[in-house]
Amino acid sequence: MKPPTLTTFALFLATLAPMTLLQSQSSTPAPALVNGYQPTWWKEAVVYQIYPRSFKDSNGDGIGDIPGITSKLDYLQKLGVNVIWLSPHYDSPNADNGYDIRDYRKVMAEFGTMADFDTMLAGIKQRHMRLIIDLVVNHTSDEHHWFVESRKSKDNPYRDYYFWRDGKPGPAGPDGKTRMLPPNNDPSFFSGSAWQFDSATEQYYLHYFAVKQPDLNWDNPKVREEVYSLMRFWLDKGVDGFRMDVIPLISKNPAFPDLTPDQLHNYGNAYANGPHMHDYLQEMNRNVMAKYDVMTVGEALGISLEQTPLMVGENRHELNMIFNFDAIRSNREGIKLKPFDLLMLKAIYTHHAEVLDTHSWDTVFLSNHDNPRIVSTFGDDSAEFRVPSAKLLATMLLTLRGTPFLYQGDELGMTNYPFRSINDFDDIEVKNAYKANVLTGKIPEETFIADLRHTSRDNSRTPMQWDESANGGFTTAAKPWLAENPNYTQINANAEVADPNSIYNYTRKLIDLRHAHQAFVYGEYKDLDPENKSIFAYTRALGSDRYLVVLNFSSGPVAYTLPAKVKVDSLVLSNLDSAGLVTDTFNLAGWEARIYKLK
Ligand code: NOJ
Repeated sequence: MKPPTLTTFALFLATLAPMTLLQSQSSTPAPALVNGYQPTWWKEAVVYQIYPRSFKDSNGDGIGDIPGITSKLDYLQKLGVNVIWLSPHYDSPNADNGYDIRDYRKVMAEFGTMADFDTMLAGIKQRHMRLIIDLVVNHTSDEHHWFVESRKSKDNPYRDYYFWRDGKPGPAGPDGKTRMLPPNNDPSFFSGSAWQFDSATEQYYLHYFAVKQPDLNWDNPKVREEVYSLMRFWLDKGVDGFRMDVIPLISKNPAFPDLTPDQLHNYGNAYANGPHMHDYLQEMNRNVMAKYDVMTVGEALGISLEQTPLMVGENRHELNMIFNFDAIRSNREGIKLKPFDLLMLKAIYTHHAEVLDTHSWDTVFLSNHDNPRIVSTFGDDSAEFRVPSAKLLATMLLTLRGTPFLYQGDELGMTNYPFRSINDFDDIEVKNAYKANVLTGKIPEETFIADLRHTSRDNSRTPMQWDESANGGFTTAAKPWLAENPNYTQINANAEVADPNSIYNYTRKLIDLRHAHQAFVYGEYKDLDPENKSIFAYTRALGSDRYLVVLNFSSGPVAYTLPAKVKVDSLVLSNLDSAGLVTDTFNLAGWEARIYKLK
């Protein structure tokens, strides 16, 4: 298909822009730069991700829902977060827990109604918070009416909403008949080929994720127009922006050449950054985002740090920020957990500070619904060190460069789940991988389960632990959709809100601190000791407002001497009681974290 003429399309959509919004935007003067940065609310925000299925069940069906979220808004406001990112809440058959959308303008029945959504949104606004929602438009559900139509016939008006291709003739089978092969060797992220044969028209359709998640064809201008329209639908309701699911995958090479062996090694990179990705994001920005005061963050699978300014640079008019996975995946090799390497993590953060200048904003995060629990992965979830290490990680996230994204339950120090068998998992990625690897004898069952105990996405999807009652107070149902972590009797919100020394209350103090001092948002970042294998010590400085953060990433005590030029004034916050003294050498206990004001 010929690429669309973007200018014509843009002009057409621009005529639909609400004039009042355009006028009000142009009359607001831009605030003065801070350390070269244009200040905005989303740079200063702390974002909290809610995975609605696992947050709070209000109606006793074992599944979290929107009224459940509304009932916990005071808890979030007290924590001090400014923006809530809500994972998909749309109507979906749940092949991938809502990341397979059947109707973009409808709320998932298990989660409630549109009226419930409106009540939640009003509650968020009343508490001076904002809401961003998940925009999943690389693919839809196969039950979306576009796809239901598309698969009916080759001349259906919706056929070109998706990618349909003929198979390739393969070698003859034992019966002498030629066997059909998929159009190319693209693998799916969820195991097997990315192409699914459909008998109705004897062609294959593309699905980078599950068979039930067919990829949309963004080269079709009608698809793009549909997406912009659904975005406006939610923005006009008052949502404050989007987290964009696998957004670098939206543009494909329609010739679908075979991937080379090298590309097959990391096919995410090969799928990202297609020929029109930037054109489409710029068009989306012109037609939608530019007309609202919104925040956008792209899940940027396959985009290198060096490519990042092309997506988030202010002069590019694409997205505000992206999630880059260098840090969160620094201790991962596929489904295997690698030993944590502090030197590598520090090098990544320094590299970010070097590559992203004042015109390209960053994000900072080490957890989300696709990754295991932060304290079990980057900290130490043993009885002795769970609390200090969870606090240390929160200290780091909330004092580093970039907008911090916290994942639900991390403010409580929730941990990985003790998975024992394949039946304990819900995730389609795990179930497909089990079929592809264990049932075929490629990986022994024990190894597979042992690896996933550390890395499965279900670790972070177990229900929130609200109190010590049955199922952690998440649901009144006998059984939640995914088992509650049995440690809810010790780790739960009720206990932590009441305990002044809890991870929750420490996180609250950190968020207050970030909000009180722009140095943590716009200040310069400097790693004082990049070669130190157990200490991460860095400064954040904005004029005379200067801070030192010292983190002991080990379970043993460490004496750390500051570089001569760095002079400490007073202790601002620490995760242990022992940190009162102000000297040039710090005797840090295992997983101790301190923040000092500098002279
Ligand atoms: C990324 C999402 O974060 C993940 O949960 C989902 O499975 C895939 N995209 C497909 O939508």
